[in-house]
Amino acid sequence: MKFGHFDDEHREYVIETPKTPLPWINYLGSKEFFTLISNTCGGYTFYKDAKLLRLTRYRYNDVPMDINGKYFYIKDGDTVWNPGWKPTQTDLDEYECRHGIGYSKFKGVKNGVRADVLTFVPVNDNCEVSKLVVTNDSSVEKNISIFSYVEWCLWNADDDSRNFQRNFSTGEVEVKGSAIYHKTEYRERRNHYAVYSVNAPIAAFDTARDSFLGLYHYAGNPEAVLNGKLTNSMASGWSPIAAHQLDVTLKPGESKSYVFVLGYIENPVEDKWEAHNVINKKPAEALLAKYDTDAKVDAAFAELNDQWDKLLNIYTVDSSNDKVNRMVNIWNQYQCMVTFNMSRSASYYESGIGRGMGFRDSCQDLLGFVHLIPDRARERIIDIASTQFEDGRAYHQYQPLTKKGNSDIGSGFGDDPLWLIAGTSAYIRETGDATILDEMVPFDNDASVAQTLMEHLRRSFGYVDTHRGPHRLPLIGRADWNDCLNLNCHSTQPGESFQTFGPSEGPVAESVFIGGMFVKYGNEYADLCDLKGLTDEAAKVRASVAEMNEILLDSNAGWDGEWFVRAYDSYGNKVGSKECEEGKIYIEPQGFCVLAGVGKESGQAQKALDSVKQHLDTKYGVMILQPAYTVYHEELGEVSSYPPGYKENAGIFCHNNPWVSIAETVIGRGDRAFEVYKKTCPAYTEEISEIHRTEPYIYCQMVAGADAKFHGEGKNSWLTGTAAWTFVNISQYILGVYPTLKGLSVDPCVPADFGDFSVKRIYRGVEYDITVKQNGAQKGVKELIVDGAKIDGTVIPYDASKKTVKVEVVMG
Ligand code: BGC
Ligand code: NOJ
Repeated sequence: MKFGHFDDEHREYVIETPKTPLPWINYLGSKEFFTLISNTCGGYTFYKDAKLLRLTRYRYNDVPMDINGKYFYIKDGDTVWNPGWKPTQTDLDEYECRHGIGYSKFKGVKNGVRADVLTFVPVNDNCEVSKLVVTNDSSVEKNISIFSYVEWCLWNADDDSRNFQRNFSTGEVEVKGSAIYHKTEYRERRNHYAVYSVNAPIAAFDTARDSFLGLYHYAGNPEAVLNGKLTNSMASGWSPIAAHQLDVTLKPGESKSYVFVLGYIENPVEDKWEAHNVINKKPAEALLAKYDTDAKVDAAFAELNDQWDKLLNIYTVDSSNDKVNRMVNIWNQYQCMVTFNMSRSASYYESGIGRGMGFRDSCQDLLGFVHLIPDRARERIIDIASTQFEDGRAYHQYQPLTKKGNSDIGSGFGDDPLWLIAGTSAYIRETGDATILDEMVPFDNDASVAQTLMEHLRRSFGYVDTHRGPHRLPLIGRADWNDCLNLNCHSTQPGESFQTFGPSEGPVAESVFIGGMFVKYGNEYADLCDLKGLTDEAAKVRASVAEMNEILLDSNAGWDGEWFVRAYDSYGNKVGSKECEEGKIYIEPQGFCVLAGVGKESGQAQKALDSVKQHLDTKYGVMILQPAYTVYHEELGEVSSYPPGYKENAGIFCHNNPWVSIAETVIGRGDRAFEVYKKTCPAYTEEISEIHRTEPYIYCQMVAGADAKFHGEGKNSWLTGTAAWTFVNISQYILGVYPTLKGLSVDPCVPADFGDFSVKRIYRGVEYDITVKQNGAQKGVKELIVDGAKIDGTVIPYDASKKTVKVEVVMG
């Protein structure tokens, strides 16, 4: 069952009912100012950091679901309604929400009045703009009142949700004309404030929540709105808000339009005030003036769309499969950009006060957007590397505002160092810019111990190479990619954090998965060494990689007979082996070892993937492990804490499904690679939205596995490495357009019935127009013709002197 439909021409998902199974959200903003917005106008806004600079308040896990947002109320006689249905939940005659690329549109119709809202964050300003157009579609004159409402957050969202003994006394505001200013803590150490304004004279306002809502009322029935008259309240402590009232007369057929702007302003410390305790409003007024007419707003909206036209023109596919076209050309890339901006910090499931930027997450996210904004990818790599320790380990997370490593979680995740190689290699393969390797980059943000990025990579690889266990496999530390496989933790008390309890290192527990990464990214690091002329280092690295390859295939170490072992626990016992009672097979080492090429020649690769199909497959995707753990295993940690079928305990963890799909392309099985791709693909699961429940235009982190009561139900939408890895999978492995250090390689691996297709790819400033004749083949390039000349192999040598290159591929 569907709750909407795709409008590919406008790059929108059109939601036809406000009663979606979960709030279906969108992200506005692409640089520093961000808004989350749901299909019923819920959500919140922050500047740079969802924890430290939160502008508006949101209440997670509240009832009814999705509490707080930016609301417009329309009072028409005795009826009060919202264009987005919530919070009054007054039944609408018509409703539509269109989530687009960086904007959302709402249409609500009630009793002959139509309200259209367009909300977006302009490309270059720290504000959110909402254009509200009200139209009288009835045959009688209408006298309506429009009310706006936002609730301010007192900046630090964590403190805001806990420290009430202080917070109820700190709130301060100012009002000037139609502009309402939120200035809590501005008198002391802050030099920023927020403003909410409308480009028309207002009839009244409120800035005190109690006055607006009324005691014991809520946003669904605000007393001042029901009374038709805001009270001009001035907040003093308690909860400051911003609400405007506009009284509007509409003749039959008449429309009126209003622009609301919610902005963030920072003043230089010496320019904070215009008079004693009166904030300097000049920059705010300048900002508001940029959006005070429809024409200016329309121009800013066009600029946003142009920006996305350019970005989404960098990789496009034209195939006979609409779902693939739609995901590749629009939604998958869009989600990659959102995960780049948010990492795992702020979604409807990540509260914005917990995790900042993850080291491994951000490095992997980079794989999905580096072609879109290489300059920002470059900056991101340097930021991430700056949180690395001198010995090659890394902080597991850092705060986006301070860019400093987060000492609450610290270090010790065995896979982290290798992801830095993955991100850097992807950046250089995309851009050809090897100068990044010469950049001086601090360790632990200490510039006095800076070294080149190349040296950071050497230490990354070196750390894993020199921290091996009894089987010469890499030590796992706190955990590897699977945060929940906590082999050194041994937690027995409720509340102990699996992530940080116990030692950060242990001499015995090893990870086969990191072994697979070691091969994959060891090889990529060796290629970078060659690029820099470091032949001795390259040879040394390749020797270590070759040794690891053997260890992984050895039945006394990485190989279990039918598949790869997952790990060895701190007692030296196997995890993910036929010898185990539960958790006999895990997906991660099968996917990652094979995508790294391990076991391709020996046939073990194929065996491992056949085992995945036999033991882990479901109609909704491939599960992370089987059989699920039914009891808590102290020696394994959080993985066994979840009920069977959820999250890391035998859920379908979408992130690693593309690893399996990529692995299938490595051994040339296009049918199976695509089957795995389809199972978690939003454009396919749209049809079962009532089961899947999360947004049908983007990936979620986890789908409940076969053991779960709600098998097929998705959770934790938006912020997942699935976006990046799936884009890598479909664009670079299935469609097969892969950037190498020397140029683009074209080597598709598609299902037998996929048909011919073409890809347009802008790469290092050159446009490649690639057409593929499939001939029913799943893999194999029989002919590669570049600008009319046949060439050997699959790599098109990069030639900067060309503007466009015509590439014809014949498979077979
Ligand atoms: C989740 C993991 C997540 C981790 C982050 C765990 O509870 O299951 O998916 O990576 O928390 O700390
Ligand atoms: C989500 C985390 O963000 C990611 O870092 C981790 O790899 C997966 N969960 C698996 O545990």
